[in-house]
Amino acid sequence: MFSLVIYALVLALPAAYLLHRRSKPSSPSTSPQLSQKQENKPKSIMQAPRDDLQPPKDDPFTLEQLKQFDGSDPSKPIYVAIKGTVFDVSHKSDVYGTGKSYNIFAGKDGSRGLGMSSLKTEDAVSDYSGLNEADMKTLNDWHAFFEKRYNIVGRVVDLPAPASNL
Ligand code: HEM
Repeated sequence: MFSLVIYALVLALPAAYLLHRRSKPSSPSTSPQLSQKQENKPKSIMQAPRDDLQPPKDDPFTLEQLKQFDGSDPSKPIYVAIKGTVFDVSHKSDVYGTGKSYNIFAGKDGSRGLGMSSLKTEDAVSDYSGLNEADMKTLNDWHAFFEKRYNIVGRVVDLPAPASNL
């Protein structure tokens, strides 16, 4: 019985991962054919884009200030920064809150890890220089994904170059 569960997990996890990578929004360069195909595909495991987002704000945040928005204080919102853009992910505290799967990206700019599809602490840093083309595309896809789902509350003002140019 136990080995059956392990077997199911071994099969299910990579499948979910592939689905989760494929379901990320396509870049603007993607052909219309593909977008149409995506619209027809079965319901994604990812949350749907929102149509109730507020106009983006441009409040300045230092990386130090961002740390207080890592989900550890329930009275504060949870922020995730990608390529310097600060997103309010509070409504997904089920994934970004303390102890949850993607808390690694909360209260910081973890662009490098997002690009590399890595959940390692050492990769969750703002400096994404040196990423290969595929990882840069993944990172840009994540930025576009967040732009469609989360309110932009500001911008990180003390990113080390070249991570500050979006
Ligand atoms: C076995 C590997 C993985 C599985 C099974 C998996 C599964 C999932 C699932 C089910 C969701 C949707 C969560 C929800 O909306 O509640 C999700 C979202 C997400 N995953 Fe993964 N994932 C895997 C690996 C990774 C890795 C390596 C990264 C590193 C970048 C990553 C980053 C994310 C992010 C940023 C989201 C978006 C959460 C949001 O804001 O909606 N995942 N993943």
